[in-house]
Amino acid sequence: MENKLVILASGRGSNFAAIANAIADGSIPNARIIALISNNADAGAIGIAKRLGIAVRIIHSKNFRQSGQFDRIGYEKELSAVLKELQPNWILLAGYMLILGKEIIQQWANKIVNIHPSLLPAFRGLRAQKQAIEAGVSKSGCTVHFVTEELDDGPIIAQNTVEVLGTDTEETLSQRLLPIEHHTYVEAVSKLCSRSCVIRNGCVEWLA
Ligand code: GRF
Repeated sequence: MENKLVILASGRGSNFAAIANAIADGSIPNARIIALISNNADAGAIGIAKRLGIAVRIIHSKNFRQSGQFDRIGYEKELSAVLKELQPNWILLAGYMLILGKEIIQQWANKIVNIHPSLLPAFRGLRAQKQAIEAGVSKSGCTVHFVTEELDDGPIIAQNTVEVLGTDTEETLSQRLLPIEHHTYVEAVSKLCSRSCVIRNGCVEWLA
């Protein structure tokens, strides 16, 4: 069965590019990216999608912001309609900077996947690499996980570690972690597209 993937990205798009390249070279089997959805018209990810001939849907989140308030319900109504039309098997968040509301998470339960630049459950939220340095840990890493209503929570699909050096800054750690993120996201999506899993007691169990 071919897995239809939709990527949601707000920025640079290097994780998106890693997944697209891995499909092209066969490291992710049985998969096709049917669209990139971005909330940000300036996202680098959009240029990558265009170069690769991948359809782009932009839902401008700035149109839903008024006097500092974000109309999440209005925004997600549009996002929900696009997802319903696309009918993906997997929705992959790759540097998607908006928090998804519970309606979408429930509609697409166990179909939405995220990458976070720490070894969850440590250092949830923004600037995880900075949090790791400030906590003085000697190892950090990244986590690919199913998205649940709790921020940066949810059953873990894949994790890999990176050493944190005494000399590291947020930038140097982020730079060293990035290729590990790419590898981890590819590993996770490849597993999702080639094996079946169930979630039991909040943990992913791989079948056959
Ligand atoms: C990555 O560090 C990812 O873990 C985090 O946002 C960043 C996105 O980078 N969620 P990119 O847009 O994939 O290059």
